[in-house]
Amino acid sequence: MKPTSLTSPSGTPASTFSFGTMQFGGKADAAESQKLYDASRAASINFFDTAYVYTEGRAEQLLGKFAASERDDLVIATKCASVGGAGSANIRAQLDESRKRLNMDTVDVFYLHQWDGDTPLEETFETLAELRAAGLFRYIGVSNFSAWQTMKATCIAQKLGIKIDILQPMYNLVKRQVEVEILPMALSESFNVAPYSPLGGGLLTGKYAGGGAGRILDDKMYNKRYGVEWMHDTATSLSALAAEVGVSAITLAVSWVARHKGITHPIISARSEAQLRPSLAALDYTMPDDVYNRITALSRQPAPATDRLEEA
Ligand SMILES: NC(=O)c1ccc[n+]([C@@H]2O[C@H](COP(=O)([O-])OP(=O)(O)OC[C@H]3O[C@@H](n4cnc5c(N)ncnc54)[C@H](OP(=O)(O)O)[C@@H]3O)[C@@H](O)[C@H]2O)c1
Repeated sequence: MKPTSLTSPSGTPASTFSFGTMQFGGKADAAESQKLYDASRAASINFFDTAYVYTEGRAEQLLGKFAASERDDLVIATKCASVGGAGSANIRAQLDESRKRLNMDTVDVFYLHQWDGDTPLEETFETLAELRAAGLFRYIGVSNFSAWQTMKATCIAQKLGIKIDILQPMYNLVKRQVEVEILPMALSESFNVAPYSPLGGGLLTGKYAGGGAGRILDDKMYNKRYGVEWMHDTATSLSALAAEVGVSAITLAVSWVARHKGITHPIISARSEAQLRPSLAALDYTMPDDVYNRITALSRQPAPATDRLEEA
């Protein structure tokens, strides 16, 4: 069975690649954000990712403005419950606010941004079922859920006659945990998968080895997430391989993520149109098998989900 084919309200299929707007109204001002949107559209991307919590609402507002004249041909994803929990009142309030900022009656994909262990899943999914039935969104997504959390939520959703359509986990060459449980589950259970941070927040561009600036130095959380020596070694090795094969390390890193058979809609992003170009080049790059295997070997493979593999 294949995952649900995501479409826009007019029936246009969601593009394979998606563009993430986390920098809109932040590191990318309104003018640069418009350029990023236009460059994505010129590359035939019609799937845009945003969230209630991005740049205090400016990302949703800017996306809504850029999308207005062609809204029905786009697939618009937003997320709730990164703050305030996944209780009914918070989900309803955040969806209302997101729809106002986006200036859209309906959003296409509505994600729970993270797992909330303090709210009964029944409450969360009953709320999603009601909001979906009321036409306020079309597809359900979950982000940053583990496999067991996704399957537990799936059981509850099934009882309510709804289902999870898409997952949004982190995935890149130095963050490969999803290979163990999430991607096999997605293939088995036919979930779409839109992974985020294909460049490891910028690490895999190779710029930090050359003294470059960016999020991993400026932002404490990203510094903690990627401030690990072997990850920086992997980035350096990827740059060397890129020089050898004559393709940007950025194009390789994005293509490597997109190449996994469990991945359906990788999310690319940047803070400027110039930065975005080598990520967009991945849309037209076909990675040879030997390059894929060599890149895979540059980083640590996560431990398998079960022990006792010596008999396999
Ligand atoms: N669900 C979630 O929890 C979650 C979390 C994170 C992201 N997301 C989504 O996924 C999208 C992509 O995530 P991400 O921004 O982390 O992706 P990423 O591709 O790993 O990182 C993008 C960052 O890399 C740096 N970069 C990109 N191209 C570059 C270039 N040519 N030269 C130098 N630096 C370059 C820029 O950061 P600097 O210039 O600052 O270095 C840019 O903002 C987001 O917009 C958002 O929609 C979702």
